[in-house]
This record gives sequence, structure tokens and C-alpha cells, in this order.
Amino acid sequence: MTYEEAKKMLAKCGQEHVLAFWKQLDKKQRAALLAQIATLEPKSLAQCEATLRRGAEVPDSSKGKAPKVAVLKGKALKDAVDAGEKELRAGRVAALLVAGGQGSRLGYDGPKGCYAIGPATDAPLFYFHARKILARSLRYGKPIPFYIMTSEANDAATKKCFEDFNYFGLAKENVFFFTQGMWPGMTKDGKIILERPDRIFMSPDGHGGLLAALKRSGALADMKKRGIKSVFFFQVDNPLVEIADPAFIGYHVLQGSEYSLKLCAKRDPYEKVGIPMKFGDVHRMVEYTEMTKEQCERLDKSGKLYFLYGSPAIHVFDRAFLDKEASKAMPLHLAFKKIPTVAPDGKVVKPSEPNGYKFEKFIFDILPNAKKAAFLAFDQKDEFSPVKNAEGADSPATCRADMQAKWRRMLAAAGVAIDEKLVVEIDPAYALDTADILARGICLGAE
Ligand code: UTP
Repeated sequence: MTYEEAKKMLAKCGQEHVLAFWKQLDKKQRAALLAQIATLEPKSLAQCEATLRRGAEVPDSSKGKAPKVAVLKGKALKDAVDAGEKELRAGRVAALLVAGGQGSRLGYDGPKGCYAIGPATDAPLFYFHARKILARSLRYGKPIPFYIMTSEANDAATKKCFEDFNYFGLAKENVFFFTQGMWPGMTKDGKIILERPDRIFMSPDGHGGLLAALKRSGALADMKKRGIKSVFFFQVDNPLVEIADPAFIGYHVLQGSEYSLKLCAKRDPYEKVGIPMKFGDVHRMVEYTEMTKEQCERLDKSGKLYFLYGSPAIHVFDRAFLDKEASKAMPLHLAFKKIPTVAPDGKVVKPSEPNGYKFEKFIFDILPNAKKAAFLAFDQKDEFSPVKNAEGADSPATCRADMQAKWRRMLAAAGVAIDEKLVVEIDPAYALDTADILARGICLGAE
């Protein structure tokens, strides 16, 4: 993009101020700024401004009903597992990880997936995800291609981590990295914020940026070429997740669902998780901030919470559904943040109060578009313990304890007793579950 082209495009969008410091920039700075401007799309800028003008939409959730949530047992569980295993054996399942977040609460300097979580080995979060995928691929004799969304800020470091660990044993041709989009920050009157005279403040476009990125990068086309039908979606911060769990895949397929969600019972009525609700024939995720006190505390006839189940963002998508959704615009969510800006004299100002908006898209906003959605309950202690905060709840300490408790349960079920004082860690590619431990016939971790 040339200076003239940039000027024309910005003028059309009412954003000429982005070039205000052009005269004082050197050649390299000018090239970098033009490259950033080239990524801006007038249509997207108009959507940001429109969202700011009318405020983010907070739909009325007062008429929402609890969705039907399956708890699989006995024959229903066996049928689901059989159907899921059939898909895995046919190579129709992919794993899709969103790992483009900034991890600001954890305060770790690097991609969150590189964070050392292994209780005994300090293995990174990516290790546990990749080794589970490897284990399932080997078990079912077909690769589970692994698609990983990064952001501009952590793409190189993520790829380096995979290189350093030799792709954790996965074949390189089955790992596909792609980068999510970035949106500019704006003032409340819709003006793009410069964080330096030569740079626009940009931030990742949220996990909902996934759809556009899947399409742009060719990942969706790659899935189609490989004959993928079901796409298992998960987040980087939860090493307990049962990736490509046959029961979940199978339930999704048997239900003819386009978008399936694993749900777990809330730990308390006000837990900060999204709650799927039913509005007529359509399902929508209601954020905890949209719930009234009455809704949070409402009980059903048996005395349990009426809106019992929350979403830990473990999904299965029909690949064709993702394809269809990838071309549609998604709603934007606003976050009011402290964003560095440039004063008229070119000096950088670090605000002490929030001064501008970041824009994000959320993947669950496509839930209402699913012709058929399915919901499956699972036990939180077995599959969900995210690393969100540096300390306290949902921190590395709680996660390591939960990982070890799960491995101890697996071992106990195989008849292996482990001294309480020993640190326990199991490589998922060595033993994914109790059946693997029994098959190995070895007493792990004990002298
Ligand atoms: P979170 O909402 O926990 O955000 O992301 P975060 O950026 O990781 O952490 P904080 O809020 O700054 O502390 C949930 C999942 O969505 C991914 C994250 O990598 C994580 O797997 N994500 C989030 C993206 O891939 N892109 C984004 O723009 C935001």
C-alpha cells in the first residue's frame, strides 16, 4: 500500500489522523505504519464505529430456559463411544486449539501454551494437549490433524516451542498453525488510537476471530481435503480437557448436531461462566454478567439450580457448519481499557484510567445459527481446571493439584496405590486413561 492509497482509504473512513505524524517518521517507520494500515478493512472499521455508537448489544435473557442437557450412562454412553470411535477410526476428527490470547491475568511473558505446568517435569501446556492427540491418533490408527490459532504477538514463540519439543512426537504435516486477526483500538467517538506516532494500537480479535482466520489461512480447506467432519474445539489453558473424547464426538454425530457443547455444573450460583439458554427453538450463550440475581439463584423442583450448567468452552463443531459461518459477520464485544496514546506533540501518554475500547468476537455467538445444538454434561473435576490467574482460584497451583488428583484416580482405578507425598505425572501418550495403565501392566511412580 502506498502513502496515497492509505490517505485515501483513511479519509473515506474519517481516520486521517492516523497519518498525523507522517512527516517526522523515518523510512522504516513509514513502511511499518503503511503495513498496519493495509490490514484495516473499511467494512470492519465501520462495524467498530457502529458498535461504539449503539453500545454492545445486551439481549434480553429474562425469557431464557435451561436447555436439555444429556448425562450419558449405560447403553446411551456405549452407543456414543462406539459412534465416536467409528469417526476416529475413519480419520474424520480434527482438534482445534485457540491459543491467541494475551494471558494478561496469568502475567506470563510468552504464549500461555508454553507455560510450564507439568507437576514433575515442568512440561508446557502444549505438551499435554499434543500428547493426548498423539495418544488418540495411535489408539485409533488415524491422525487427528491439530489446528492451532495463534496471534501476531505469540505466533513465532508458539512455533518455536513446538520445534524445540520436536512437535511433541506429532508428525509435522498434521500440525497447522494459523494466525488470528487484529483490530485497532478506538476512542469512544470511533477514532483509531495511535500508541506511538508510527504505530496503531491493535489487539487480537477474540476467540471468535477463529472463523475468519480458519478461512483466510486455508485451514478450513485443509480440513475438507482431509475428509474431516467433526472438529473438537478447546482452549489452551485447560490441561485436563479430554481432547477428541469419543463419547462427546459420538454424541454430537448421533444427535446430528452442528454445534455441541460440554457443560459442567456450576461450582456456585454466581460462577463466572457462560450459561447456554433456550429461547424458543434457538439456543444462545448468556454471559454471567447478563444474568439477574434471580436467574442465578433460581431452583428447579428438585431443589437444584435451574441454570445449573455452565460452559467451559469445550465444543464439537460440524466442519460444514464452520464453513458456512466463516463468511458471516460476527457481533463485536467491547472492552474499555487503558490504552497508551500519543499527545499532539508526539509524546506517548500512559493513561491512569480506561480511555479506549478493544473489540473482540466470541466463538459462542454462532450458537444461535446452529440448526441443531447438543449439550452434554461432564464432571468438572475430570476435565476442567484452567490456568487463568497467577495465584488463588484457577491458577497453576490449583491446576497442578487437579492434574495430579486425576492421575491418582486413574491409577487407583487400575489398582495402583501411590504414596500421597509423591509428585504424580503421567505422559498422556504413555497412558491416556485407566485402560492404558492396565494394558501397560506397570506400577507407575512407585519404587
Ligand atoms: P481468555 O478469555 O481466558 O483470555 O481466553 P486470555 O487472553 O487467554 O487471558 P486474559 O483474559 O488476558 O487473562 C480463552 C481462550 O481463548 C483464546 C485464549 O488463548 C484461550 O485459549 N483466545 C482469547 C484467543 O485465541 N484469542 C483471543 O483473542 C482471545
